[in-house]
Amino acid sequence: MTSERLDKVLAGLGAGSRREIAALARAGKITVNGDICRTPDRKINPEQDKLSVDGQPLVYRAHWYLMLNKPAGVVTATEDNFQRTVLDLLPEQLRRAGIFPVGRLDKDTEGLLLLTTDGAFGHALMSPRRHVSKVYEARFDGTLAPDAAARFAAGLTLADGTVCRPATLEPLGGDRARITLCEGKFHQVKRMLRAVGGTVTALRREQIGTLPLDPALAPGAFRELREDERAALTVDREHAQNTKNGISQK
Ligand code: URA
Repeated sequence: MTSERLDKVLAGLGAGSRREIAALARAGKITVNGDICRTPDRKINPEQDKLSVDGQPLVYRAHWYLMLNKPAGVVTATEDNFQRTVLDLLPEQLRRAGIFPVGRLDKDTEGLLLLTTDGAFGHALMSPRRHVSKVYEARFDGTLAPDAAARFAAGLTLADGTVCRPATLEPLGGDRARITLCEGKFHQVKRMLRAVGGTVTALRREQIGTLPLDPALAPGAFRELREDERAALTVDREHAQNTKNGISQK
């Protein structure tokens, strides 16, 4: 790993703006390998050098990767003048690190939302060409058409002419159904269920690719992805690419 400026590394870890970090350095509050460092432009090796700010050790990451159990009532955005956003659920340190949501869930939708500082990761998961699957559990009013699952499987055409890719609709009994999509059109689950006779009353995303929402996360809680979880999402991306290229995989 090439060396990087101390202030750039600390800013990426959410320790503050470059200006704030310069002030912390002047105040003698930053250490590198246990020694006070007053020069924020000093070059360090972020993978090897041990950093601390205000006595708190910082663990180096090139990027942040989080899963959040999004509660209903917050918007999927980095900022909003009037409404609470998913970033308001995170500590300031992460907001300052430049984290953003991967895709979006409606304000009234709950469940698994990924957030990252890694633009390439976010872009790859969102790319329509990758077809990363997303699993939702919906509650609905109304009675679904007897051929609803078959119409999902064939690729539904919505009332406005939008053509959806083949999807899975699995009745779970009563007013509940599991829906699996490999794309993310605006209000897609709600519009697809509407097309087969259901009005969504509650929606929750359970899984993205191979990654399920951690059941230990209460609504509003988040945790970092483990390395194996992040790697599995990457494998999914390769799988989708290979499928597109006609390479079969078991
Ligand atoms: N489909 C919807 O209708 N809403 C969401 O938030 C996600 C998928």
